[in-house]
Amino acid sequence: MRKLLAIESSCDETSAAVVAEDRTILSNIVASQHELHFDFGGVVPEIASRAHVRRIIPVIEEALKAADTDLKELCAVAVTSEPGLVGSLLVGLTAAKTLAMSLDIPLVTVDHIDAHIYACGMGQQESAFPCVGFVVSGGHTNLYDCRSATDTTLIAGTTDDAAGEAFDKVARILHLPYPGGPSIQKAAEKGDPTSYQLPRPMMRADKPHFSFSGLKTAVLYAARGVPGTEQLDHTPEECVPNLAASFQAAVSDVLVFKCRQALKKLGYKRLCVGGGVAANQHFREQLTDMCRRHRVELLIAPPELCTDNAAMAAIAWEYLEQGKTANLDADVLPGLVRPHVSR
Ligand code: KG4
Ligand code: ZN
Repeated sequence: MRKLLAIESSCDETSAAVVAEDRTILSNIVASQHELHFDFGGVVPEIASRAHVRRIIPVIEEALKAADTDLKELCAVAVTSEPGLVGSLLVGLTAAKTLAMSLDIPLVTVDHIDAHIYACGMGQQESAFPCVGFVVSGGHTNLYDCRSATDTTLIAGTTDDAAGEAFDKVARILHLPYPGGPSIQKAAEKGDPTSYQLPRPMMRADKPHFSFSGLKTAVLYAARGVPGTEQLDHTPEECVPNLAASFQAAVSDVLVFKCRQALKKLGYKRLCVGGGVAANQHFREQLTDMCRRHRVELLIAPPELCTDNAAMAAIAWEYLEQGKTANLDADVLPGLVRPHVSR
């Protein structure tokens, strides 16, 4: 069975995986940098790229060892080249180019967002496509018309904060640790989601896009007081579980509503959801419920494949099957520059 090495370094996870041609994940090593960004409440790009430089080779070595694979057995090197933090992406791409050149094997560049959607179908017998694809992460809240794994069109995105970014910022307001998603989920377990009446932004049929900055401000005002009134410089500890639960419910309501709207518009009966926020338990339950009611097949990546990891770059096998390899002068594309993600 042919194997490829996949590398992911688009944000703050340094990851390498070995994936066989039948898409079996032989190893998937993820070195997270959460502790390095903890004090800042978000990813600091320069710190992230420097950490990638230190970790990339040990992580690749560990992935090969865990897969019991020698470099000589690899038939290609896949790497995330877009979108992401420019310095972080460059570390992965440079490592991948070096390996591809020295081993004389093809280089395949991968779109991180397409890879998040692809992760939903990994381990499935049937194809996950066509479907509505939804990527809800720290950097994106994007809905796609996915005709195939490599032929997707963006149909809606966020006008300001991404959903994961809102989780991270609200966690700061509530003095919960970074990354905000898991800590809000944990705090919400002891809270009542109906205790605060928070807005559900853009939940209207004529508004396809997302916006979370107003919801974030509503949490700030609920936690510390509205400007013009007496304001606290600290969120009272006893309010945190209820605010976390109410915020989580508001985000989830909006995300589920938009998925339903996209399914209706495109007429698909399958929904694939990936990205870090898709690891959220409440959101997963709400999505499952909506899909059951509307007889839609829901493919949602297991939590370890929702957050950034290299195994999802196995989408490279699809590109390889189409003969789409990259040249050694390939560059990174940090921004989400293509409204049409179609390769
Ligand atoms: O996909 P990902 O690992 O990286 C990006 O491509 O951005 O997503 C990271 C984001 C962070 O904002 C984090 O707070 C959020 O996903 N996240 C969650 C959960 N786990 C991670 N949000 C809500 N609930 C979770 N359980
Ligand atoms: Zn991601």
